[in-house]
Amino acid sequence: MQIPQDLIETAALKLKSVQSEAEFFQLRAQYLGKKSFVVSSFSMLRDLKSEEKVIVAKELNILKNDLTKLFENALQEIEGRSDIVKLDVTLPADPFLVGSEHPITKISQKILNYFIPLNYQIFSGNEIETDFYNFEALNFPENHPARQMHDTFYLNSNSKSEYLLRTHTSNTQIHAMLSEDLPLYMLSPGRVFRCDSDNTHLPMFTQIEGLVVDEAVTFGDLKGILIDFIEDFFNEKTDVRFRPSYFPFTEPSAEVDIKFGSKGWLEILGCGMVHPNVLNGCNIDTKKFRGFAFGMGVERLAMLYYGVTDIREFYSSNLDFLKQFPS
Ligand code: DAH
Repeated sequence: MQIPQDLIETAALKLKSVQSEAEFFQLRAQYLGKKSFVVSSFSMLRDLKSEEKVIVAKELNILKNDLTKLFENALQEIEGRSDIVKLDVTLPADPFLVGSEHPITKISQKILNYFIPLNYQIFSGNEIETDFYNFEALNFPENHPARQMHDTFYLNSNSKSEYLLRTHTSNTQIHAMLSEDLPLYMLSPGRVFRCDSDNTHLPMFTQIEGLVVDEAVTFGDLKGILIDFIEDFFNEKTDVRFRPSYFPFTEPSAEVDIKFGSKGWLEILGCGMVHPNVLNGCNIDTKKFRGFAFGMGVERLAMLYYGVTDIREFYSSNLDFLKQFPS
């Protein structure tokens, strides 16, 4: 093995022209890092005959020690210089990708991407919420039977507590109506929580809420946008059915089903015209403004889109499952 004789001299020469700490560390990696001549030569020693190995190992050790000293001294010298550009460890690191996006993130983004060009603003909402925003302001009075459809996690197990984990993203409707000017076009994705668990239900899942409050919006507008969204989502003409339903915060209310191959009709979202009690509670003039709202379960849409049959797969951290959704 040939050890270049001028390694130390060239390193010393290059060190003299260093202008910044970053340059210094680059140079040090070049001469003493994993891929440097010295370090990679050590791993090649095992291929040499034993007499040669002893000689070369000795020379390599001397070279490594000399280089180490050279760089140690240079660093001291550099740190004393006022003209040197220092490393700023507070700068953000270069971004690099690890793994791939979770399928629920992907589907959420796909849904948002339909509405963003239509000027819907994205709102993030509170996961820990008060009874007021989760129920009362949405026209679920205390002891109303509709509350029983939501098996709620209260944050104080002894009695009715002020705080709870929101059972739906509809709470953001109230926050948005109380804080924003009209007209309002909003979308709010996020996690929701219900005391529920089997192969189609989870105690934590994801919803996307939509709300429009404007002059003269109609149920026809709501139908039009949802049918167009569904066909855009599945990228094909889809049979869509609006089935009369009940939600306290909308009147009239509907559940939307789509015809899905051999599975028949499947429910994918709830929607309706915002109930006047809700608008009034948010100080909105119901003579002038009307609203429509909709809420969809992202896991349900992801299951249909990807053909997943057990909702629990999404959160089992099973890499064999997750690797099927590369970026
Ligand atoms: N919040 C309802 C739920 O979780 C879904 C829903 C229905 C949302 C109708 C809406 C709506 O905005 O208008 O079951």
